[in-house]
Amino acid sequence: MAKKILILNGPNLNLLGIREPAIYGTQTLKDIEGNCKTKAAELGFEIVFKQSNSEGALVDAIQEASADMAGIIINAGAYTHTSIAIHDALRSFKAPIIELHLSNIHGREDFRKKSYIALVATGIICGFGAKGYEYSIEAIADLVNK
Ligand code: DQA
Repeated sequence: MAKKILILNGPNLNLLGIREPAIYGTQTLKDIEGNCKTKAAELGFEIVFKQSNSEGALVDAIQEASADMAGIIINAGAYTHTSIAIHDALRSFKAPIIELHLSNIHGREDFRKKSYIALVATGIICGFGAKGYEYSIEAIADLVNK
C-alpha cells in the first residue's frame, strides 16, 4: 500500500485563485490538490488533502495524522505566526514535517517573519507559489525513502 502524506491548509487558503492573486497566484486550492495527487502518484505516494479555517480542526488533523501518515506538509496560513496550539500538536508528530508557504514570508511584513512552525519543521519551502506544494512532496518522499 502506498505511504500517505497529509497536506494541511489553514485559514483563507480556500480562497486561493481570488485572494490577492499577485501574491498567492491564480491557481485554486482544487487545482493545487490535483497537481499534488499527480506528483505524489509519480513518487509512489498517496495524499490526504485538507483545509480548515479553524485552529482546533487543524490541531485535530495533526493529532490524527500520527496513526498513518508518513509526513505532513503544512501551510498554516496566518496561524503560522500565532499558533502555539499547532506548534504543540506538531511536536508530537514523529515523522517529517515541511512548513510551506506560497509567498516568501521573509520578504513581506515583519509580523510574517515569526513562525511557530519553523521551530518544529524538518524543513521550510516558501516563495515558489503553487509549485512549492510539489517541491514539498518531493522533499517528504526523499526523507521517507532515505
Ligand atoms: C501564507 C503566508 C501567511 O503569512 C498568510 O497569512 C497566508 C498564506 C502563504 O502561503 O504564503 O495565509 O501561508
